[in-house]
Amino acid sequence: INACEYMPGLEGIPAARSKISFVDGKQGILEYRGIPVEEIAKAPSTTFLETAYLLIWGKLPTRVELHEFESDIRYHRRVKYRIRDMMKCFPESGHPMDALQASAAALGLFYSRRALDDPQYIRQAVVRLLAKIPTMVAAFQLIREGNDPIQPNDDLDYSTNFLYMLTERIPDPLAARIFDICLTLHAEHTINASTFSAMVTASTLTDPYAVVASAVGTLAGPLHGGANEEVIAMLEDMGSPENIRPYIDRCLAEKKRIMGFGHRVYKVKDPRASILQGLAEQLFNKIGHDRLYDIAVEMEHVVEEKLGHKGIYANVDFYSGLVYRRLGIPTDLFTPIFAIARVAGWLAHWKEQLAVNRIFRPTQQYIGQHGLPYVPVTER
Ligand code: CMC
Repeated sequence: INACEYMPGLEGIPAARSKISFVDGKQGILEYRGIPVEEIAKAPSTTFLETAYLLIWGKLPTRVELHEFESDIRYHRRVKYRIRDMMKCFPESGHPMDALQASAAALGLFYSRRALDDPQYIRQAVVRLLAKIPTMVAAFQLIREGNDPIQPNDDLDYSTNFLYMLTERIPDPLAARIFDICLTLHAEHTINASTFSAMVTASTLTDPYAVVASAVGTLAGPLHGGANEEVIAMLEDMGSPENIRPYIDRCLAEKKRIMGFGHRVYKVKDPRASILQGLAEQLFNKIGHDRLYDIAVEMEHVVEEKLGHKGIYANVDFYSGLVYRRLGIPTDLFTPIFAIARVAGWLAHWKEQLAVNRIFRPTQQYIGQHGLPYVPVTER
């Protein structure tokens, strides 16, 4: 590629060299540190925190390392009462992603020592962010319902504890297990928009809380993490299978995007969508069916028929929302849950960026005018 050629969205331009994850969009392969994501997702002993460790430290942890990592995270799950009080001042009508972005940034006020060359500091920041982000997401949910947030329960594992903090009930073990695998599947995905945002912020050597806050803001958009919310809204609007074809025809005629389909990299079905579909079915078999699932499956066939030739297939967001909905999670928490998972990937890239850092400073092609006279305001 000619270095001077302008590529909108930096499409196809390598902006980093990374060992964290690999995607083959033609064959539908996603690997974390060289391990296919399917292998990880189907391993009975796998946990999201094990994947986070793998992504951030580059290898699967030993039993002792994993135990220490999980214990550290369990210990740091609580958030300062001042952060909870700050969240109580947020408007209930505000989007939980905005609440999360503000709260993640606020962590920097409390843990401001910036010692990026100290491995202890790096580890502490990783542990704090992985530990506290779920607590903050759950806290905002309870606060906006008019309740006090509940404290983390030290007897519960990462995902069970999050669902407990969110719903004030200990979840069904299969539901918690499936939720944990959902986190694993969303943990990392090469240099997507929010990860790039994290890397740009990291490259200025600012603190990791600012890195994560900037990535949360980027993830919030409907073309990125926000799509899974819109998938549910779309399926609900459709209401029944006979409305699928007219809906899709209308989208195509009006050149509107069909949410949950298409991907910059995958030109086949996203491997995560296939795994999530299987998990959704397992969940429905255990705790009851969701009628939106039937609409979703039928819709996937119709989109494939109409747009498959363009390489547009279901992406990760198409089935994840159905799983979360069945778990009783409000739709506008789907993207914050994506953030809970993706913080692992952001932190892995933060760490990798620091090791080879050069501040991001791309160039641009100026297409404006030159040498214009300054016209005083009175003469305009
Ligand atoms: N529905 C209908 N047409 C589509 C879609 C879609 N979802 N996605 C792409 N296309 C068409 C697009 O109109 C264009 O057609 P044409 O060549 O005739 O103009 C062609 O496919 C290529 O589109 P593109 O804009 O070059 O593709 P992109 O790589 O910029 O878009 C995308 C990637 C994810 C932004 C896009 O597919 C999209 O908007 N999808 C819907 C939103 C969504 O589900 N986002 C979640 C993405 S996966 C999770 C994540 O990254 O957070």
